[in-house]
Amino acid sequence: MTTEIWKDVGALCDVPRQGARIVETSFGRIAVFKTANDDIYAIEDKCPHLGGPLSQGIVHGAHVTCPLHNMVIELKSGRAVAPDEGCVLTLPVRIDERRILLDFSKFGEKAA
Ligand code: FES
Repeated sequence: MTTEIWKDVGALCDVPRQGARIVETSFGRIAVFKTANDDIYAIEDKCPHLGGPLSQGIVHGAHVTCPLHNMVIELKSGRAVAPDEGCVLTLPVRIDERRILLDFSKFGEKAA
């Protein structure tokens, strides 16, 4: 069983609605998105197509469209919407007293 590694990455109010905030980590950039419904998702800030910055994409519903070539990524699963293929890493999110916590356990012991 993997141990969860929750880290505080900022305040809920720091992420604009239908926008994103970047979290720099030793594993690369993580994009934390807030939808129009105030749902929060965290995914790698690296499009599965050619590495475009998804944090600069357009958020619509629970999806983001890559700013480079318009691939659409489902924020919850990190999967590209058909007909495109590919996926990005997603991180579990928890909100605690209006702070955003991400579980970095997918990165293994190095994240501890
Ligand atoms: S880099 Fe994202 S669609 Fe091409």
